[in-house]
Amino acid sequence: MKRAAELHGLSHDHHQVLHWALELKRSESADDPAQPFLDFWHGHAGEHFRVEEEVLLPGWAQLSDSFDESMATRVLGEHLAMRAEVLRLEAGEFGLDARRALGKALERHVRFEERELFPAIEAGLDEAALAELGARLAQAEGELGQPPGGRAAGPAERTISSAGSRKSPFDRGGTNGRSDARSGRSSRPGSGAAPGGGSAPGSRSTPPKRGR
Ligand SMILES: [Fe+2]
Ligand SMILES: [Fe+2]
Repeated sequence: MKRAAELHGLSHDHHQVLHWALELKRSESADDPAQPFLDFWHGHAGEHFRVEEEVLLPGWAQLSDSFDESMATRVLGEHLAMRAEVLRLEAGEFGLDARRALGKALERHVRFEERELFPAIEAGLDEAALAELGARLAQAEGELGQPPGGRAAGPAERTISSAGSRKSPFDRGGTNGRSDARSGRSSRPGSGAAPGGGSAPGSRSTPPKRGR
């Protein structure tokens, strides 16, 4: 199904999340360096989650009579679970099975959003409402991409793994999601097949009345 332009930015993020999900699933040791994934998480994926939590789902609830609370609850619950898992990974409490399970959870989550959530949002919003939601998403993504002072002081700087310098699936590319943040998606792994842009039409006007 063709993705609405207003959701291209989030869909593009999903390509990158899937890349890291695959890396996690391919983990070979609990001692694999986790920092590259954590860099991506703190520089990009965690913010993607936040945009969905603070902008996408509330906007869907406000702008559409077809808002599905059970779907939204599933998204929020999975976000919470994965955020907790990342904290455990960061704290060095993660074994090999947990790494692989996190990869599977990330993949399942993205598949659900792409195959069920986003189509439901697209189908439930008329053109004006979708444009309004797209404008809010674009603004939120822009704000997150350029926070005051950047994200340089974030926990991504910390090294949590006891692993040495040996090559591992986690270490591939050594990418850091903060370098291009939300504005530089094209340079991220797996970004080639992603829908481009993410720019949304419309401006931050008064939300259309839904007659509820
Ligand atoms: Fe999500
Ligand atoms: Fe998502």
